[in-house]
Amino acid sequence: MSPRLDLALNSGLSLSQSLTVLAPTPDHDLSGLPRAALVVQPFKPFHDHFAAQGFAATPDGDAPCQDAIVFLPRAKALARALVHQACRCASGVVVVDGAKTDGVDSLLKDIRKRVPVEGPISKAHGKIFWFGSDADAFADWAAPDAQMSEGYRTAPGVFSADGIDPASALLLQSLPQKRGARIADLGAGWGFLSAHLIDGSLHSLHLVEANHTALTCARANVSDPRAQFHWADATTWTAPEPLDTVIMNPPFHTSRSADPALGQGFIASAARNLARNGHLWMVANRHLPYEATLAETFARVEDVAGDNRFKVFHASRPRG
Ligand SMILES: C[S@@+](CC[C@H](N)C(=O)[O-])C[C@H]1O[C@@H](n2cnc3c(N)ncnc32)[C@H](O)[C@@H]1O
Repeated sequence: MSPRLDLALNSGLSLSQSLTVLAPTPDHDLSGLPRAALVVQPFKPFHDHFAAQGFAATPDGDAPCQDAIVFLPRAKALARALVHQACRCASGVVVVDGAKTDGVDSLLKDIRKRVPVEGPISKAHGKIFWFGSDADAFADWAAPDAQMSEGYRTAPGVFSADGIDPASALLLQSLPQKRGARIADLGAGWGFLSAHLIDGSLHSLHLVEANHTALTCARANVSDPRAQFHWADATTWTAPEPLDTVIMNPPFHTSRSADPALGQGFIASAARNLARNGHLWMVANRHLPYEATLAETFARVEDVAGDNRFKVFHASRPRG
C-alpha cells in the first residue's frame, strides 16, 4: 500500500467502498483499496496496469461516489482540475496525496484558503491530507469545456497544452510534399502534426495516442473522415494496414527522468508497421541516443534537419 495512504488510514482517515481514485500511476500501490474502487486514468498503459489488478478502470468519468482520492500530477492546471473533479463526484471525503516535487505544499496552501483541511501527514518526500467534498469551493478550478491554444483544442496536462511544440514545428517544416496515402502519427497528442497531414493523396491517417484526454482534443482538431483515432500504447500498436509513412515526435519520459527506451520502442514500432518501401520521419531532442536503434531497424537513415536543440531523421527501408 502507498506509504502515505497507509499512514492516513491508520491515523483517522476512513474511506467507504464507494471510492473513485483519480490519476494513480504504477508507482502508487493501491493493493489495500477495495477492488470495487473506480480508477480514473487517461494514460493507456497505466489504465491497463490497474485494470489488470482487478480495479474498475476508465479513461475519464465522473460517476457519483462517496469518497475520492487524487494522486497529484505535476501539471498545476491538471492538479486543480482533478481536485474539482473529485469534489464534483464525491459527496464525502476528498483525499489529496502528492510529492513535494509535484507541488503538494503549494496546493495544500491554496486548498486551505478554501476549505478546512485534515491531516496533513508528511512522509516519503510528500504529503497527504483530506477535506469534506465541496464542489462550489473549487468551481473556478474546473477544466475549461474547450481550452484553445493557437486555434487548437488542448486540455490541462496534455503535452504542449499552451501552444505548438517547437520540435513538432521543425518536423512539419522538414516533411516532403509527397507523403504517401497511409500514414500514422505515433504519439499524436492533440493532433498538431496530423492536422497538417490532410491532403488529396491521403487514404487513411492513424492517430495513435496513449493519453485519452489528448486524443479527445485531437478528434476536435482533426475532423477529416480519413482520420482514425487509436487510444493505444504506440510501442505495442499494430496498424490495421501496412503504412507508407510514420511521422512522430516521440515522448522521452513518462515520469521525471528521461527514458530513451520509450523513443526506441516508438522507432521499433514504426519499422514493424511500415511497408517495405515505407518512410519514417521523426524529430527528437538532440541529446537523445536514437541513432543506434534507427540503424538497427532501418537500412537507410539520414539526418535531414536540425538546430541546436532538435534533430530530424528520415529513415527508410525498414529491416524485416
Ligand atoms: C512529444 S509529444 C508529441 C505530441 C504531438 N505529436 C505533437 O507534435 O504535438 C509525445 C506524445 O506521446 C504520447 N505518449 C507517451 N507515451 C505513449 C505511448 N506509450 N503510446 C502512445 N503515445 C504515447 C504523449 O502523451 C504525447 O502526447
